[in-house]
Amino acid sequence: MYKDLLKFAIKTAKKAGKYVLAEQKKGLIIEEKGKNDLVTNADRASEEMIIKEINKAYPDHAIIGEESSFIRKSDFSDYADSEYIWLVDPIDGTTNYAHQLKEYAVSIGLFKLSKKEKSKNFQYLTGELIVGVVYAPGMNELFSATKGEGAYMNDKKIQVTKINEVKNGLFATGFPYKNQGINLPYFNAMMGHCQAIRRLGAASLDLCYVAAGRFEGYWEFGLKPWDIAAGALIIEEAGGTVTDTNGNQIDLFGADIFGSNNKIHQETLNIFKNI
Ligand code: IPD
Ligand code: CA
Ligand code: CA
Repeated sequence: MYKDLLKFAIKTAKKAGKYVLAEQKKGLIIEEKGKNDLVTNADRASEEMIIKEINKAYPDHAIIGEESSFIRKSDFSDYADSEYIWLVDPIDGTTNYAHQLKEYAVSIGLFKLSKKEKSKNFQYLTGELIVGVVYAPGMNELFSATKGEGAYMNDKKIQVTKINEVKNGLFATGFPYKNQGINLPYFNAMMGHCQAIRRLGAASLDLCYVAAGRFEGYWEFGLKPWDIAAGALIIEEAGGTVTDTNGNQIDLFGADIFGSNNKIHQETLNIFKNI
């Protein structure tokens, strides 16, 4: 149903991904946007490249990109009657990228509004994620999904695992740039219950790794819509569940997320509840 949009998103993520991979090898100009929050010349150029492609192919679509936040083609003030909103993270995992690690990705999600409504705030619009693409060029892994049609890694269909007890689960988490301590009680609590916890450094990949059956669950606080849009759809399409850390439906602007293989979802939420 959304084949052309998916094809476009894959092509664009690959183009940007190949570019950032080459730039990483060449050497980067690294700046700090906020405390510990890095940005490189390649983050900015990758986002410009993606926005240019979207504007060319879909001139009436809106775009929210991390580095240029809240851009709309014609005017910047609201999300008027654009039916589609692209959520773009030009490099997710910039700290890894800047340190020459491979665990980073280009993440592109597409949100479709359920009805035409005018809002100055994307947050108040209702709709659903319909396309998600996360491309990790350093490892040449491309995760993708369209609503209702399953999830894939490269050309292979992916599925979450069947592990049904937290004690046998491998989990991932992350720590926000601001207010890192918010996650420590959760980290401590989960350490006592699960097999092990990883901190990969790229939210989009953490989500895709749950989808691909590498992790049983992933939670984090302080995220932005471009970090999670694509990965959340990819988990759901791989048979997993995505909520916030209280078990409520995710709000892309709500900042906290818990994605799992579904089987260990409730048990983990019970652990969170007792923190
Ligand atoms: C960050 C990464 C990281 C997560 C941070 C995100 P960025 O995105 O996904 O894993 O812990 O909360 O902001 O800044 O590299 O695009
Ligand atoms: Ca990010
Ligand atoms: Ca980023």
